[in-house]
Amino acid sequence: MQERSFLELLRVHEALDEAFLKHQEALMELRPLDALGWLEQVRGGIAAHVRDEEGELLPVYAARAGRVEGGGPELFVAEHRKIQALLDELVASVRAMIENPPGRRAVLLLFDRQILYKSLMEHHDLRERRFLYPILDRVTTPEERAAIFARLERVG
Ligand SMILES: [Fe+2]
Ligand SMILES: [Fe+2]
Repeated sequence: MQERSFLELLRVHEALDEAFLKHQEALMELRPLDALGWLEQVRGGIAAHVRDEEGELLPVYAARAGRVEGGGPELFVAEHRKIQALLDELVASVRAMIENPPGRRAVLLLFDRQILYKSLMEHHDLRERRFLYPILDRVTTPEERAAIFARLERVG
């Protein structure tokens, strides 16, 4: 049996970043309908990944990892809520663009707002890459990891 590592979930982060870039490309081309489609994909993908992490990973991490400086389980949950709230706000902005077709200036203003989303995601990816995923690998057996992976909604 091929041993699983939670670091494989970094692929999910990459795919979400890629979908967000597609969203931004559509915005650049003033295609708000396509932009909304990609952004909804990002939002749905993040929702599934957050359900996986909060439902399957964080309970095991909280029970076994002990105190981790800069990597407490509540930090991951707080970042998830921030990212999801910001995404809701971005979806509402792009929806509004479908009724009122955007000019270049409106798109630029939205890109400024999206810098916050990108930096939240980058920060969150780093925290999980450094703490959540490698520490979970250390405190679980290969059999437990295989069982958890089998229950995840999104692995790539
Ligand atoms: Fe996360
Ligand atoms: Fe994650």
